Amino acid sequence: MNDSTTPPLAIDHLGIAVPDLDAALSFWRDQLGVTLTAIEEVPEQRARVAFLATGAAKTELIEPTDPDSAIGKFLASGRKGIHHIAYRVDDISARLRELRERGVELVHAEPVAGSRGTKVAFLHPRSTGGVLIELVEYPRA
Ligand code: CO
Repeated sequence: MNDSTTPPLAIDHLGIAVPDLDAALSFWRDQLGVTLTAIEEVPEQRARVAFLATGAAKTELIEPTDPDSAIGKFLASGRKGIHHIAYRVDDISARLRELRERGVELVHAEPVAGSRGTKVAFLHPRSTGGVLIELVEYPRA
């Protein structure tokens, strides 16, 4: 569903869960040859993330810093690899309000702090056909 009040979405990044960021970088950066643009600890998500330059849609490698974090539990359940798809939005709070009104189940009713000064929120996979979706709003320049 779309209407004139809802601007189109663009993929910001693919989030990939990794148990060991340095080991993951030895593939992505050293073997595949992708440029590492940033490594950052994100305390709110209890994770360390690396961003790779892969065009408009970046690649985010996420290593848990706490086994009880969302990424830690994901890996502990035996899953690994692609964890979420992130879409860039202009006004995350307005988007979340709109989605809630449309009956979409949210992991975060309000945005939380993401990496690089962003505000982020996740939509629950129960409402999305099993895909974990992250919305990202960048700080205004
Ligand atoms: Co992400």
